[in-house]
Amino acid sequence: MDDDQIREFSEKMSERIASLFSEKMSERIASLEDKNDKLLETARRAEGEKRYVETELGRLQKEIRRLKQELVRLKSPPLIIGNIRDILADGRVVVKSSTGPDFIVNAADYITKENLVVGARVALNKQTLAVMGVLPPSLDPIVTGAEIIEKPPVTFDDVGGLEGQMRELREAVEDPLLKPDLYRKVGIEPPKGVLLVGPPGTGKTLLAKAVANRTQATFIRFVGSELVQKYIGEGARLVRELFQLAREKSPSIVFIDELDSVGAKRLEIATSGDREVQRTLMQLLAELDGFNPLGEVKIIGATNRPDILDEALLRPGRFDRIIEIPIPGHEARMTIFKIHTRKMSAAPDVDYGVLAARCEGTTGADIHAMCTEAGMFAIREEREVVTMGDFGRAVDKVLGESPMRSTDASGAMYA
Ligand SMILES: Nc1ncnc2c1ncn2[C@@H]1O[C@H](COP(=O)(O)OP(=O)(O)O)[C@@H](O)[C@H]1O
Ligand SMILES: [Mg+2]
Repeated sequence: MDDDQIREFSEKMSERIASLFSEKMSERIASLEDKNDKLLETARRAEGEKRYVETELGRLQKEIRRLKQELVRLKSPPLIIGNIRDILADGRVVVKSSTGPDFIVNAADYITKENLVVGARVALNKQTLAVMGVLPPSLDPIVTGAEIIEKPPVTFDDVGGLEGQMRELREAVEDPLLKPDLYRKVGIEPPKGVLLVGPPGTGKTLLAKAVANRTQATFIRFVGSELVQKYIGEGARLVRELFQLAREKSPSIVFIDELDSVGAKRLEIATSGDREVQRTLMQLLAELDGFNPLGEVKIIGATNRPDILDEALLRPGRFDRIIEIPIPGHEARMTIFKIHTRKMSAAPDVDYGVLAARCEGTTGADIHAMCTEAGMFAIREEREVVTMGDFGRAVDKVLGESPMRSTDASGAMYA
């Protein structure tokens, strides 16, 4: 073989080797790339799993913290409820709890100093009696329920014939609340409490409802008998809380209907029940005395029995303005007839003057009953219009029902 042949051969060989090599290489590269893809995939999956485990760990750690806190909370000793008696100059407080004696204790730092006032209800640590927190004052649900939030649908237009009394009531109750400056300038003290006095059914409660409807002030309504409680001291506590609520919500008007059930004369000989009623009355007197007349709380009382009221209630500075609600006169009866027939379909010939003349001595409640009766007569005969005849029979019926009505019933005991 000559040199040329050898070179040619070696060139061929090297070409062959190169092509073989590149073939093998590309095969290898492909398989490696394949492997790489798989590995990348695995890595991604592992990364995802790691993230999941990490969040799970965070969640469980939070849960552990929560459970530990819950455990601490459940293990924490009970707190005792007490009252602050006094605040000492060095910041310590004198507390009284149900355990008996008064204690001088420290208050926790996080309590705002303004909340530490004499009389506040506080929670005390069981061992050290340190003040741990100030509690909101407790109000009986009966008391909080007495506030009228929805205005009664009664306006002064629904009250017949008591214009003078209405004006007087507004003057005595609303003006001092809404224009206190005027009273200050004139230099007189407005009355603190107003007592509505009159026979039953003459519109005392109605008048109070009309005030409640019109006033901007909070209206708190109570029936006297609700203040008479079974247990000793309960009635007095209710009265106290009632006025506390009134002061919190001021300007406000407190209306005590049927005042005689708590305000009856105090007797020498009394059962324990009577004594409890008297305690309630005494608390009421104390509350009446307790705030100044220009303060933002006004009181309206109503009673059918002024004769049995304790004189102490009527002293100046208490219920010092008495508004008498009389049995309606002729004009007033006509107006009341018109008010109660406003929504009725009465025949054009119904003469309210004649009707009013017939029922001398009846009250607004009677007239209301007469109008309802007249409507019933019409319905019984399947008429849609109420006639003068219906009204006539209704007046007879209501007048005839109660023999007491024709006589003077002022001394009688009303329900
Ligand atoms: N002056 C009046 N004008 C219109 N309706 C009256 C009047 N007085 C009484 N009534 C009617 O009699 C009902 C009972 O009156 P009320 O105010 O409860 O009497 P009391 O004086 O016993 O509180 C009222 O709901 C109303 O329908
Ligand atoms: Mg009433």
